[in-house]
Amino acid sequence: IKRLGVLTSGGDAPGMNAAIRAVLLTAASYNIEVVGFKHGYIGLLEQEYKTLMPQHVQNIIQRGGTILKSARCPALQTPEGPKLAAATLHQLNIDALIVIGGDGSFRGALEIAKHYQGQIIGVPGTIDNDVDGTDNTIGYATAIDTALDAIDKIRDTADAFERIFLVELMGRHSGFIALSAGIAGGAEQIICPEFGPLSAEDLRRVLTPIQHAQLLMGKASYIIVVAENSYPGGTTALADALTKAIGIECRACILGHIQRGGSPVGADRILGSKLGAYAVEQLLQGAHLQMAGEVNGELSLYPLALTGERTKAIDPFLVRWQQQVGSA
Ligand code: F6P
Repeated sequence: IKRLGVLTSGGDAPGMNAAIRAVLLTAASYNIEVVGFKHGYIGLLEQEYKTLMPQHVQNIIQRGGTILKSARCPALQTPEGPKLAAATLHQLNIDALIVIGGDGSFRGALEIAKHYQGQIIGVPGTIDNDVDGTDNTIGYATAIDTALDAIDKIRDTADAFERIFLVELMGRHSGFIALSAGIAGGAEQIICPEFGPLSAEDLRRVLTPIQHAQLLMGKASYIIVVAENSYPGGTTALADALTKAIGIECRACILGHIQRGGSPVGADRILGSKLGAYAVEQLLQGAHLQMAGEVNGELSLYPLALTGERTKAIDPFLVRWQQQVGSA
């Protein structure tokens, strides 16, 4: 391998810069040139790139976002998109490509691979942690801490006003962030897709524990952490429905994109560095269509095609415990 391409795609995640830095530093130690494509796959389609030098990755390990910028790229889903992307890689003599992103980005990589002669490897970067083949994705640990900080602050005002708050956290269709931040924030209830769909008809599931807690324990504040996409109409609609049903004002707080930003916590800087370096090392060993991950503390490869199978479950012990004490 003489020339390596790298890009960040999909939702940005804190720690992506650490991964880019590790890719560049590791490649440089093998005298491999690194080309960084801008705005995810758009950079490949529109030939927006620059050769990365060690000075480009100085002072970035502590920064959120991604120096390469990120984007979702609908053009890659057209029949011509992957062909065009592969043509750019061939034209620029890129021997291998590293894609840092989530399983959607890896699906794009698999399409490009059908037309590309070089190697492709994935590095899992998303706050959602919804990628199989790695215990944690880059950005997940930081997102938990960001959400937790917000929950703690909401708890103060919820307590002062004796209010019920519903805090909506990101996660796309998974409850990794909601479960972790909810547990760590002492949430009275956690609602996430893994607990089964919640419809307007089964509001009782949420109501009974609230009424129980208010009556029996005289709780001053009550926080329900809700993973996004858990309720038809969204978390504000859920708060309104609860308000109507119990006659106590329930407020919704949609945390939103704040969860994607901020300086990565140590764990994400370390994971980003490790997986970025490992991806380069494994490419040199011939890896292709694999994702660099870490399972039980061991670096390992996982087939890129299986990363979106959703076999990784949210912590079963915490799920069981939360359901046991949920309304306490
Ligand atoms: O995948 C990361 C993520 O932040 C999800 O948690 C969320 O559902 C989605 O991206 C939001 O995407 P966008 O920034 O395109 O609205």
